[in-house]
Amino acid sequence: MAKLVSSWSNGVKFIPKDYVMPPERRAGDYITVCKEIPVINLEDDRSEIVRQILKACQEFGVFQVINHGVSDKMMEDMMALYDEFFNLPVEDKLGVYSEKLRKGCTLYTSGLEYAKEDVHYWKDTLKHPCHPVEEHSPSWPDKPYRYKEEVARYVVEVRKMGFKILDMIGEGLGLREGYFNEVSQEHSMAINRYPPCPNPSLAMGIAGHNDPNLITFLQQDHYGLQILKDGIWMGVEPIPNAFVVNLGYQFHVISNGKLKCVEHRGLLNSSVSRTSIVTFLGPNPELPTVVEPAKELVTSSNPRMFKSYRYNEFIANYLVMAYNRKSGSRNGYALDPYRL
Ligand code: OGA
Ligand code: NI
Repeated sequence: MAKLVSSWSNGVKFIPKDYVMPPERRAGDYITVCKEIPVINLEDDRSEIVRQILKACQEFGVFQVINHGVSDKMMEDMMALYDEFFNLPVEDKLGVYSEKLRKGCTLYTSGLEYAKEDVHYWKDTLKHPCHPVEEHSPSWPDKPYRYKEEVARYVVEVRKMGFKILDMIGEGLGLREGYFNEVSQEHSMAINRYPPCPNPSLAMGIAGHNDPNLITFLQQDHYGLQILKDGIWMGVEPIPNAFVVNLGYQFHVISNGKLKCVEHRGLLNSSVSRTSIVTFLGPNPELPTVVEPAKELVTSSNPRMFKSYRYNEFIANYLVMAYNRKSGSRNGYALDPYRL
């Protein structure tokens, strides 16, 4: 527990040396906020939304949504809940804390042995499975007392929004209804906490990565999320109560390369704690679900780009590669074994 950044970093004036990134792994140059990342109003006309979402997925692999049906109050309550959670006294978080990698509900930090890192990230994370709620909520934190009830409601609402967006992407791609059912069975959340850092340019919140799943929905309170586009890191504007939607590796494969998956990372602030509440939809990592390019999207002008593979094998491989990854490796490297 002493290892959680949120437990020891309050008021520190210097970064401990095992959190100082070597120069090549620091943030470097970036465009602070990229105003071109599409912001899509989900109350617009449906065919217009489908067009905008598809264009965003082809150009960026990321977009933001507003008027998405999850209420402002619910989103604000969630941020307040996690502020309270991370500020709870140590003994109230012991039940979910773990220094070992494990399945199920876990509070952990980067500075733990299993991560096999030489340098740690300035971040703590609470993660847990979400769906079906009745099955998983008993494992969620007991405190704050309202946790289970509030998060259960959030899970239901974000899920509705998520499947509506998936439906529209499917429609834009010309896939049959329900195409994504099997590859979106797993619904989980990660809540990342990035405490204020005395020297944000020397440390890192979360390194550049592509999400391994199908699609991700992120709620953030402060600046820090950046995406890599055409070799340039660009900030995603924190819009109050919007969701950032980004595509993971599986979407790139299923769309036969038509949609981008976006590499992204998280920077730190010097004066405020940043929280991101992240919802992941994807295949169940325990099951041998077959992932492959949709047959509808393989044509003579767009030949098949990837072999079929089993998701549990992909994930095992992804984790090994993530641990061994050297900075500067190419975007999309985890798909290399499956390229045709
Ligand atoms: C993630 C992620 C970014 C953020 O959890 O996969 O990319 O801003 N988080 O916390
Ligand atoms: Ni991510």
